[in-house]
Amino acid sequence: MAEKSRGFTSYIGAILAAAGGAVGLGNIWRFPYMLGQNGGGAFLLIYIFFVLFIGIPLMMTEFIIGRRGESNVIGSYRNLSKGNKGWITLGIFSIVCALMIYAFYSVVAGWTLNYLILACRNQLNGLSTEEVAQTFNTFTQGSFYPVLFQFLFIAITGGVVAMGVQKGIEKFSKILIPILFILLLLMCVRSLSLKGASEGLKFVFNPDFSKITGKSLLDALGQSFFSLSLGIGAMITYGSYIRKGDNLFKSSLWVAICDLGVAILASIVIFPAVFALGMNPADGPKLVYIVLPNVFNNMPMGNIFAIVFFILLNIATLTSTMSLLEILVSTAVEELHWKRGTASILASILVFGMGIFCTLSFGPLKDVTIGGKNIFDIFDLITASYLMPIGALLMTIFLGWFYPKTEVRAELSNDGKRKVRAFEIYHFILRYMAPIALIVILISGFFK
Ligand code: PFF
Repeated sequence: MAEKSRGFTSYIGAILAAAGGAVGLGNIWRFPYMLGQNGGGAFLLIYIFFVLFIGIPLMMTEFIIGRRGESNVIGSYRNLSKGNKGWITLGIFSIVCALMIYAFYSVVAGWTLNYLILACRNQLNGLSTEEVAQTFNTFTQGSFYPVLFQFLFIAITGGVVAMGVQKGIEKFSKILIPILFILLLLMCVRSLSLKGASEGLKFVFNPDFSKITGKSLLDALGQSFFSLSLGIGAMITYGSYIRKGDNLFKSSLWVAICDLGVAILASIVIFPAVFALGMNPADGPKLVYIVLPNVFNNMPMGNIFAIVFFILLNIATLTSTMSLLEILVSTAVEELHWKRGTASILASILVFGMGIFCTLSFGPLKDVTIGGKNIFDIFDLITASYLMPIGALLMTIFLGWFYPKTEVRAELSNDGKRKVRAFEIYHFILRYMAPIALIVILISGFFK
């Protein structure tokens, strides 16, 4: 039985839930197009470096804050800082970030749900390249349907989160994440069996460092953050649900391996197919919604594989939106003493209210722009380039400089019950390396 009734009931449940939170559109939609735009293999190597040396320590940091603080984002800072108002404000900051990320993320989630339905109804099959592009543009630039699908996705997420941490989040993650991996492997086999697939594999795995620029380094660092869901307290929230006896280092490592694994497998699905069918690997954000449907159209039994692909993309997205909503719901339940069901509904309504503006920014509100960016892009830019790194920077300052080192060690060692190797290396990264990397991302963000 659970040691803590508010948390996950098993080690594997905790890892799969956190991996579900991390694995999302960032891995299957964003990572491959970034790889495509940054020249392939060399970007992958740099990305892996950042995940290992910055991402995993930062995830450990969030897990430590959550499990030691034994509460939601606000409560954890309050408990660990003995009520310091400044650090409690950092919790509030996380809530605002979660709302904003969920608002724009739910737009793409809605597209993903729509594409699953299009694939199931065989409506992508047999379209010409122009027709595929037109389908995407007509849908995303409309108002009723994209808002409807966004609403549906938010409602499904709200339903799962309302069921609770154990019966909703943990249970769904335990079922969905293994299915996601199986479907992804199936897709890999299909893609690799296409004639000409080896070009795509070369693209993903042959490092060409001449393609690497300052921008690629920053893209890789920012992507590792977004992909591992760092900086806004998602992992603090889930960390607070991890059982006291579990190993936080190993948990972080497993979550990062799953996250990296999905990003690499998704690239193995996408690029061999893109190359085999003569498409452009550097096509950017359109890769999944325009290039891939074309790829499926040109492959035998393509429609079946389109369905499989969009099922797995929906699974990945749902487990991420669950983690975003849980940041808000856990806080409302514990700080405001709302019932979980009420909190899920009200938080979802709030997100939907903000998210509508992001959806409509491709259609009726497309002229509302700042510096050439629409509302969706502004939400994306503000959160990924500024708020997430600022959040993570403040977290490293809190745990590295404000919170006693002996306590950090105590939490990592489960109060002395487990040996911690390389603690000094972790603490060095926490105090110096991670904050410096974060400051670099932030400064670069200003010049984007
Ligand atoms: N990590 C998710 C992805 O890669 O799609 C995005 C995300 C989820 C970011 C949850 C932040 C978060 F709290």
